[in-house]
Parts: sequence; structure tokens; C-alpha cells
Amino acid sequence: MESKRNFRKVVIVGAGAVGSTFAFALAQRGIADQIVLMDANREYAEGQVLDLVHGLPYYPPVQIRTGEPEDYADARVIVLTAGAKQSPGESRLALLKKNASIVSSIMDEIVKQKSGAVVVVASNPVDVLTYVALKRSGWPKGRVIGSGTVLDSARFRYLLSQHCEVDVSNVHAYILGEHGDSEFPAWSMTNIGGVSIEDYCPICNMCDDWEDERDQIFQSVRDSAYHIINYKGSTYFAIGMALVRIVGTILQNQRSVLPVSTLLDGEYGLKDVCLGIPAVVGQEGVQEIITAPLTSEEQESLRNSAATLQKALEQIKE
Ligand SMILES: NC(=O)c1ccc[n+]([C@@H]2O[C@H](COP(=O)([O-])OP(=O)(O)OC[C@H]3O[C@@H](n4cnc5c(N)ncnc54)[C@H](O)[C@@H]3O)[C@@H](O)[C@H]2O)c1
Repeated sequence: MESKRNFRKVVIVGAGAVGSTFAFALAQRGIADQIVLMDANREYAEGQVLDLVHGLPYYPPVQIRTGEPEDYADARVIVLTAGAKQSPGESRLALLKKNASIVSSIMDEIVKQKSGAVVVVASNPVDVLTYVALKRSGWPKGRVIGSGTVLDSARFRYLLSQHCEVDVSNVHAYILGEHGDSEFPAWSMTNIGGVSIEDYCPICNMCDDWEDERDQIFQSVRDSAYHIINYKGSTYFAIGMALVRIVGTILQNQRSVLPVSTLLDGEYGLKDVCLGIPAVVGQEGVQEIITAPLTSEEQESLRNSAATLQKALEQIKE
């Protein structure tokens, strides 16, 4: 039994661009024993798996295969990247309802299989679908989480590192709130090598007008997905890496602080909404939400993001 408990099985539901890129990146990290790909289009999943397994001589040891709903039972992590694309003429709300129904039916099957996994939702709109998946499951809130603003924060860190010409691993910065248009940069939490961004400015001395530069950096972060989608149709490499980061901390119980989407229950004065907020993530999923001392402006932005998400949730309930 002990060996089964330690068996690091990751099931990915949705073998499209995001699911397969995540599988590829995860296989190379050597932190999963088994990667199972599932998709409503079974043949598509078979094709992705065949392509992936032909790289097996070059990955650290790992099994990669297609699966069945029974695979949910002993999975350690289940990642949802399944989703419908917007059809011509289809409204955002219609798409939202369609994806909420896809996520609900997948969750029903996961619960039916008595899974002990942590579920990580990546399908968009991620915060709304995380809420839908959590409520549908009836599980403790920490066990159903969303990728939140982990990707947005990676984009933010990258752009700050480029601007300040410093190693991205020394840039600590968070985008919080909705993974979407109402997200905001938590400048009060931003530091480079332990020095707050405001105090780092004279050290860096790279720009004439920091106020203006910082607005541009945030706009680039917020609009990144639109630019990439305009250029090549969809985004998948960086979200694949962000999912490896989230799933890695669960598999290895690293207790990393990540801005995942999680249900707020009074933190920051907000309730009954999932959004991206720094949280300690380990083997049980979200183990603790960090209540950071945000400025009053940042708190207002967080409330605005929560209101946007609650409005979307009300719409799908109609
Ligand atoms: N959270 C983030 O930061 C982030 C970043 C990029 C993309 N995304 C989202 O990830 C999702 C997937 O994107 P993609 O580019 O891989 O799309 P895709 O169309 O390439 O893949 C989606 C896959 O889901 C499958 N699918 C649909 N319904 C299903 C069901 N009921 N069960 C199993 N599989 C089902 C489809 O057959 C398809 O293969 C989208 O919702 C996208 O918006 C999220």
C-alpha cells in the first residue's frame, strides 16, 4: 500500500494544446511516475500519447498513456484543461455556460470514482470554473484550485527582469485577482533581491519615468494573451510550465507560495468567490491563504475583481 500511496500519478483531462504541452514539460521534469491523458476526442488523445511516448528514451523514467475515468481513483493530481472553443457568433456567456457544464460533468465522474486527488483547473475562465468545480465536488476548498494568476505573475516577473536587467529568479512579484481583464499588479509586494521595487528604482536607474514605465509593464502583462492569440491562435508553452510549477509543489509537498485561484472565505473581506491570491500550496492543495497587507488601492482592485467574477457566476446560475 505504501508504494501505491507514493505513486505520483497525474491525470490530464483535455489533450489539446495546453494539456499536451503540460504533459511534455511534466515528463521532462521527472517528478511524475505516470501521466495519463484523456480527451472527449479519444483518437486525438491517442495521437498525442503516441507522439509523447516516442520521446521516452530521452525523458527521466515515466509512463505516459491514455486513460479511463477509473484512472481518477488513485491519481494524486487531476488537471483540467478541457474546454470548448468559441464558435463563430457564439457569445462569451454561451461559451461560459458550455465550459461550466463540461467541468461539472468531469467533476461528477471524479467524485463518482472516489478520487483522493487534488484537482487543478486551467480551463478558462479559470476562476469561475474553479468555483463551479469546487461547488460541484463538495470537497474541502483547498482540494480544488485554479491556475489563477500564476501565469500572469510569471509574465510580470519576466517583464520586470527585462526592464531592470536582472535575473528573473531574483524578481518576486504577483498579479492578483481575476485571471483576466480585472487583474492587477500588487506593487506593494514587488521586490528585487529583497529590496522593494520603489527602493530598487534608484539602484536600477534604467528609466526616466518609473510611473509611466510601470503602467506599461502591467498593460503588457494584462494584454499578453491577446497579443499571442493574435499572432498564433493560442497560448500553451508558459501555461504548461506554470502547471508544472503548481503540480510539482503538490506532488513534492513543497509548500510553495503561488497565486493560485482559491475560494475566499472572509480573507480580504471577501467571500464565496475564487480568485488568484498568494497561498501556500502542498500535497493537500491550498493549505493556507496568505493575507498580505495590500494598500487601500490594491484592496479596491481586489474587490473590483471579485465583483466582476461574482457577476459572471450569477449569469451562469440564471
Ligand atoms: N489558465 C490559464 O492561464 C490558461 C492559459 C492558456 C489557456 N487556457 C485555457 O485552457 C483551455 C484549453 O486550451 P487549449 O488551447 O488546450 O484548447 P484545445 O482546444 O487545444 O484543447 C481542449 C481539448 O479539450 C477537449 N475537450 C472538450 N470537452 C471535453 C470533455 N468534456 N472531456 C474531455 N476533453 C474535452 C477537446 O477535445 C480538446 O482536445 C482553454 O479553456 C483555454 O482558454 C488557460
